[in-house]
Amino acid sequence: MLTRRQIFKTGAATGLLAVGSGAAIALGTTGAASKAVAAEQMFRVPLRVPRALRPLRTKGRSIAGFTDYDFYRLATREVETTILPGTTTRMRTFNGDLTPVIRATRGRPVVIQQVNELNVPFSMHLHGGHVPARFDGHPNDENLPESSRVFVYPNTQQASTMWIHDHSHQAHAENIYRGVAAGYVLTDEFEERLPLPKGQYDVPLYLRDGKFAADGTLVYDMEDFMDRPTVLVNGAPRPFFEVAARKYRFRLTNTSNERAFLLQLGEEGHEMTHIASDGGLLPAPVATKTMEIWPAERQEVVIDFSRFPVGSKVVLRNLIGYPGEPAEVMRFDVVRAADDPSSVPDVLRPAPDLGTATVERKFVMSFDPATGHHLINNKQFDVNRVDLKPKLGDTEIWTIENTDTKFGIPHSLHTHLEHFLVVDRDGKAPGPSEAGLKDTITVMPGKKARVKIKFTDYTGKFMYHCHLMGHLTMGMMGQMEVVD
Ligand code: C2O
Ligand code: CU
Ligand code: CU
Repeated sequence: MLTRRQIFKTGAATGLLAVGSGAAIALGTTGAASKAVAAEQMFRVPLRVPRALRPLRTKGRSIAGFTDYDFYRLATREVETTILPGTTTRMRTFNGDLTPVIRATRGRPVVIQQVNELNVPFSMHLHGGHVPARFDGHPNDENLPESSRVFVYPNTQQASTMWIHDHSHQAHAENIYRGVAAGYVLTDEFEERLPLPKGQYDVPLYLRDGKFAADGTLVYDMEDFMDRPTVLVNGAPRPFFEVAARKYRFRLTNTSNERAFLLQLGEEGHEMTHIASDGGLLPAPVATKTMEIWPAERQEVVIDFSRFPVGSKVVLRNLIGYPGEPAEVMRFDVVRAADDPSSVPDVLRPAPDLGTATVERKFVMSFDPATGHHLINNKQFDVNRVDLKPKLGDTEIWTIENTDTKFGIPHSLHTHLEHFLVVDRDGKAPGPSEAGLKDTITVMPGKKARVKIKFTDYTGKFMYHCHLMGHLTMGMMGQMEVVD
């Protein structure tokens, strides 16, 4: 039987492993202290709905050719904050806040001055952003402690839910784990015109896990990712959220290092309506009883609480937690009646035409047990190597193949710069839930997926990688240079 340490070495990093795996079940007996903390902290704290940051100014000196833009300052810093009631935890944050949110509008640039007050390098990346290479958070562009850097996000892309995190060479996994993340919600006219729930009924939910000691200390051990039984939603442990008996839009983002969620509403699986994924709205809504979300992915659902009588409490559960952990993620308390002018139209946003592919590439994702490295096409990441050179204007088909059947290791592929469309999985057309633009796709061991991607607007160097942070740290990243 594998030990916990060996499982990390093999890189198995998923809740799915816990389902029906003897190796994982053996882990259920360990981590008793952190699990006790997790169980004690259930439904004691209300959900905090992140308020959008206010821009510091809306005009300024010309930056990247723009003078009209929303200007923000995001300072990365450590603060003492309360996560578990009655204790304090040292967290890394933007501006002292756990997941502040920037709301942006298509066509209006956002400029962010990022000030690094941490004692580790930081390289800010807008995950899902279509931005020039120099603002993309290349690992060579690290912002060193006590320095500051300006980022310009042009916001020419269509509406979607994105997030901001570190991409520094060595500290990224720990910086994300210790809390530095910001939400970035881009809207546009097309989406604003739809009758979807808006305003206070449009709520971002950032899901992640962590290991907490009883005194509130956040414990980081990269190898110990199966013992992170406290689930945080918007920085609160398994919170409750008082809702009206009407429809809400939830923008789910998984900011965990390694954990996947398979979410279900209530014991019996009440219907949710899937409306958007990484790159924005799906072509059409999809009724579903479960919602799967892997690290760095975004999935948006509309939940209609009008089917529950006022006074009901409905628990959102994770069906693929590790053994011995509470399955609960958060609880919705239906506390009042409300009018509901919102609705989910039958047609949302057609997928764009990415043209005909003229180039095909293959990405084989594998683990090397001899070195402990995770590889793409048998290579470990090298910042001085360019792995591919896509041409501006070209459409390509990428095949992503996960060959790690031996230890059952899932992998994802996330690309910077562009979103893609899923062409097929093992030769089968994607279901309606994968019919929209994506930037992160998870492929299970022994499986293959093909995606179509088109390179537009920006040349330069961009990353692609597995978004399971342990794998990324162990080399599972490549570099492309988009050329004219
Ligand atoms: Cu979430 Cu390379 O990024
Ligand atoms: Cu990214
Ligand atoms: Cu991986």
